[in-house]
Amino acid sequence: MSDLSTTFMGLQLKNPIIVASSHLTFDIDKLKKCEAAGAGAVVLKSLFEEQIRIESDRMVGELNFDAYTDAYDYFQQSSKEYHLDKYLDLVEQAKKKLSIPVIASVNCISDGNWIEYAERFEKMGADALELNVFIIPADENTTGKVIEDKYIDILRKVKKKVHIPVALKLGSQFSGMAHTMHRFGKEGADGLVLFNRFYKPDIDIENFKLQAAHIFSVPEEMSFTLQWIAILAGKVNADLAATTGIHSSADIIKQVLAGAHAVEMCSALMKNGIEIIDTYLKEIEQWMERKGFDSLSDFRGKMSQESLEHPEAYERSQYVKSLVGIE
Ligand SMILES: Cc1cc2nc3c(=O)[nH]c(=O)nc-3n(C[C@H](O)[C@H](O)[C@H](O)COP(=O)(O)O)c2cc1C
Repeated sequence: MSDLSTTFMGLQLKNPIIVASSHLTFDIDKLKKCEAAGAGAVVLKSLFEEQIRIESDRMVGELNFDAYTDAYDYFQQSSKEYHLDKYLDLVEQAKKKLSIPVIASVNCISDGNWIEYAERFEKMGADALELNVFIIPADENTTGKVIEDKYIDILRKVKKKVHIPVALKLGSQFSGMAHTMHRFGKEGADGLVLFNRFYKPDIDIENFKLQAAHIFSVPEEMSFTLQWIAILAGKVNADLAATTGIHSSADIIKQVLAGAHAVEMCSALMKNGIEIIDTYLKEIEQWMERKGFDSLSDFRGKMSQESLEHPEAYERSQYVKSLVGIE
């Protein structure tokens, strides 16, 4: 029988499928279903920095609701009730009831006083912390360097507070991508989760209203992640997990071939039902048997940039050469 086990940021996973932070990981019943379906680990639905700040401000009586109106969330209403205590309770429950690793998640945009609370996730037993950092580069006066430094400030401060591994779950909009990812690795990120798929706006042309664009990813969205996992694998000082657009066992295999230690999946599991994990695992095993691989480490990174004879293939950005037949 093939060995699908893997490690991610030092955590032992029985297989590389992590259920991504979402409504699949929102309460203890859903988390139990993830485990029963065969998931290697779970990332809890993100707690929002604003929720922690509201909680702490309440304690000191400085609540200013206006400051929090821009909180990003997919389902605003449910999130409002999802405060720190409830979240810590969920971490504790999950650790008691599940045997797979439980990763807590915070959606953050600043290195403010919410970080004081980071160690409480660890105390409740979280195996790791995922920082879902989301800083929109929409301010014309703020340079990329300033924004990247904010990520680093958050990472450094959180790393000082906790001893558990810390992953950064990031968007894909960094101009100096490789340099920035290497910086995160050097500054102590234990894992990089590439790339988050954020809420996107759309316009309702009949009612002149803003609405959410497609909430679920499609398989075509995976190639960008695949390219960057392959480019960074083996070079950056952090374990890599792939997310966005992973919709089949073949997609999972591709990400491992590119160099991922794990994948974080959401849309495919929400669309097909969490039980689909078992099918993916069986299909991966069958593929491994067919290809003569005993364990995941036998083929992890086999197709990463540093393993290829022509590494420049991952950096080709124009179609011209391939269309005219030049290799
Ligand atoms: C309904 C929904 C809720 C989500 N909530 C969160 C969240 O709270 N925190 C987070 O980091 N990512 C969140 N995500 C992003 C997913 O964790 C995942 O990274 C993203 O959807 C890309 O993976 P996929 O292509 O498999 O869906 C959410 C996604 C969906 C669809």
